[in-house]
Amino acid sequence: MATDATVAGGTPPRGTRPVAIVTGAARSLGLDISKRLHAEGWAVALLDRDGDTASAEAKALDPSGESAIGLSLDVLEAEAVAPAFARVAETLGPPEALVNNAGVYPDHALLDMDVSDWDAVIGINLRGTFLCTQAFGRMRRDADLAGGAIVNFASAAAYSARVGVSHYSASKAGIVMFTKSCAQELAPLGLRVNAVAPGLIEVRDDQISDEYRAAYLSMIPRGRTGRAPDISGVVSFLLGPDADYVNGECIAIDGGFLAGRALTRAGTPVS
Ligand SMILES: NC(=O)c1ccc[n+]([C@@H]2O[C@H](COP(=O)([O-])OP(=O)(O)OC[C@H]3O[C@@H](n4cnc5c(N)ncnc54)[C@H](O)[C@@H]3O)[C@@H](O)[C@H]2O)c1
Repeated sequence: MATDATVAGGTPPRGTRPVAIVTGAARSLGLDISKRLHAEGWAVALLDRDGDTASAEAKALDPSGESAIGLSLDVLEAEAVAPAFARVAETLGPPEALVNNAGVYPDHALLDMDVSDWDAVIGINLRGTFLCTQAFGRMRRDADLAGGAIVNFASAAAYSARVGVSHYSASKAGIVMFTKSCAQELAPLGLRVNAVAPGLIEVRDDQISDEYRAAYLSMIPRGRTGRAPDISGVVSFLLGPDADYVNGECIAIDGGFLAGRALTRAGTPVS
């Protein structure tokens, strides 16, 4: 069945680089992943609802636009996803990797939460991942392309709740099972689908208070909060040939936070 995302006749890539789409790529984790993949030889499409910044970052990676482009895409817009992916295919070649990184994590207390707060978080994190995955899978199927890989973004919050993010935890727990379902349903295309569950990864100055960091640190056996390269390294692995037999998995990248209670019997933190 043809869709907007059809790669006509399996259009060959412009260059020799395999092509990866990264959503939410204008800053933070998505940008770091894009930079890492590009440095490792991928052509990258940086998609973000902040298209201007995504384009500027792509230009910084490759001013010629041959191996990096930035496009505006709000993953909530169902009608916009397939055309954006088709544009990637026309410009860089058929994408063989998708990183569903776009996500939001605002705090809203359960009893004060507006329905619109709930819908926005579930929508961007879960529905957006579904829309991008479906468009990507259709594109690969319709162009008769085998192989490829998807990495979804769950969170430690999928397994360990935090006060004020019931919508976020629910969305990320949904990602874990969505990933497993996709691994099954997309297997006939040779597509692998995995997820990462980051713990606290410090990507912006305004992200957390000093008090929160100090309290959280006592629960991380590794003794530090995470950094963007902790995530991009695992994403790169999951997209690459060394992960050929990894499918339907969600890898925690959290310094051991989810391992359990990092307390001695005396009640002191281990790190
Ligand atoms: N940073 C952490 O500690 C952490 C922990 C666990 C999980 N995660 C997950 O990692 C992913 C990235 O987080 P981050 O810390 O880099 O976030 P961030 O807010 O710093 O960056 C998110 C990017 O996504 C873009 N974006 C947001 N909504 C979008 C939409 N509807 N369509 C397209 N783009 C959109 C933003 O413009 C931004 O560029 C998210 O899925 C998040 O839930 C992050």
